[in-house]
Amino acid sequence: MCSDTPLYTCRDISYTYPDGSTALDNVSLEVRRGTSTAIIGVNGSGKSTLLLILAGLLKPSNGRVLYKGVPLDKYRGFRREVGIVFQNPEDQFITSTVYEEIIFGPRQLGLDNDELDSLVKEVSSIFMINDLLGKSPFRLSGGEKRRVAIASVASYNPEVLILDEPFHDLSLNYKIMLIKYLLSKVNKGHTVIYSCNDADISIFFVDYIGILYNGRLIAYGESSDIIRNTDLLRGAELDTSILKTFYRLLDNEDINPPFSIDILDRISGM
Ligand SMILES: Nc1ncnc2c1ncn2[C@@H]1O[C@H](COP(=O)(O)OP(=O)(O)OP(=O)(O)O)[C@@H](O)[C@H]1O
Ligand SMILES: [Mg+2]
Repeated sequence: MCSDTPLYTCRDISYTYPDGSTALDNVSLEVRRGTSTAIIGVNGSGKSTLLLILAGLLKPSNGRVLYKGVPLDKYRGFRREVGIVFQNPEDQFITSTVYEEIIFGPRQLGLDNDELDSLVKEVSSIFMINDLLGKSPFRLSGGEKRRVAIASVASYNPEVLILDEPFHDLSLNYKIMLIKYLLSKVNKGHTVIYSCNDADISIFFVDYIGILYNGRLIAYGESSDIIRNTDLLRGAELDTSILKTFYRLLDNEDINPPFSIDILDRISGM
């Protein structure tokens, strides 16, 4: 396989649910390895459906999805390489404690108890869930559930991380923690694809942005081009008011997205 084969190639994919609702309409996109992509769009625009297709959990009604140049359902080892964090964390939880939830994936990979213990320490400190390890994942606050759900996929370190609305419910300090985590993964060559239903601050830190609207991918390109096209964002009914501070950085300092971690540190100190 040629090394510049895209990680994903989606050609004219459409998806219609059994009740006849069309969620995706002729979507085509390519995702390159070692990049970060945000898929943004208002409620019902098709984000979750697209991410479930990329995670191999839904099959498009029409069109083709290639993963590393191979039809996704024929690619061996796909489950090990690609991890998805669901929009609703409770859809993901399968054990009775946060500790068990975090070790569930790594245990399948054959890690022994000491290795699992040290992994839990590492992951719970990144996602700031050390105090929750003995609790039921179902009995947590919304933001805690979100962080545990992300930690339980991050713990087996998939090469491709797909996250459906990972920033939802997170307060600013946790948002910043997560942006840093995702940037660190991309810096190590991993691929990150996530969705958000608003023009969230995180989009200033990604390489590519796609905008879904009524199931159609109305824009897809480098983040700096999409972010500067405020007419496009407004046309997709996205609220850009939260981005004011970031637009000021673009105007005053002549810097382009994707922003780096040091800008994040400056912002968190604001
Ligand atoms: N299981 C389902 N059965 C029927 N229709 C569905 C189903 N899931 C989603 N849909 C429909 O498909 C369309 C796209 O839904 P999807 O969940 O992909 O949107 P979304 O962009 O993720 O929205 P949100 O921001 O609310 O999470 C919507 O019109 C929705 O009503
Ligand atoms: Mg969704």
